[in-house]
Amino acid sequence: MSTPELTGREMLEAELAWWTAANDSFDAAVAAAARPAPGDAAIDPRELRTALGRFATGVCVVTTRTAGGQAAGLTVNSFTSVSLDPPLVAWCLGRMAPSLRAFEQAEHFAVHVMAHHQHALAMHFARPAEDKFAAFRDEFEPGLGNVPVIRDPLARFECRKASMVDGGDHVIFIGRVERFAHAEREPLLFHAGRFLGHGA
Ligand SMILES: Cc1cc2nc3c(=O)[nH]c(=O)nc-3n(C[C@H](O)[C@H](O)[C@H](O)COP(=O)(O)O)c2cc1C
Repeated sequence: MSTPELTGREMLEAELAWWTAANDSFDAAVAAAARPAPGDAAIDPRELRTALGRFATGVCVVTTRTAGGQAAGLTVNSFTSVSLDPPLVAWCLGRMAPSLRAFEQAEHFAVHVMAHHQHALAMHFARPAEDKFAAFRDEFEPGLGNVPVIRDPLARFECRKASMVDGGDHVIFIGRVERFAHAEREPLLFHAGRFLGHGA
């Protein structure tokens, strides 16, 4: 029995249906995980943070630009790959972060994996500022969706925002990778509250 050829429109509709179902079930799973249950142990958030910090990670700077032209960006280590097909990545943004509104509004974002020599840029984007980009203007160029992208990171993933999911005191951003690039350099690493190889 032969499978009928799908038209472009049918393929789009099938993908949309898949996305809707996947997002609905993911949202339900996260909501269920966030609900307290009788007998849950009391967890000290500070101790939990210290324990989680023992997981060594790379360091990323995520940037965006809203339709109104406002640019935002921050340093994160919550970046993770999600899926190769479809190509999905995710990262988490604290609900109290001043940049949350811009990331909620924008349709695109770019994730940059930082190289070891980009420590100063990563430090700069880890603190709130009126215009974070001013001090590093030469490091950026316009990317997809007019998002400011870093010229020479270790890796860069330019994404269309696919989904925002409730993640407790964070929002989980899932992006569909539309363009990416990578280079051969030493990575910037973070462990136990310190950038490795950059002093105390
Ligand atoms: C190594 C490192 C990793 C970080 N990871 C995250 C993260 O995954 N999510 C987050 O919301 N903030 C993270 N932060 C903190 C933000 O970078 C910081 O709160 C920043 O000021 C947020 O940007 P904004 O003030 O422009 O909103 C991290 C900071 C550092 C130094």
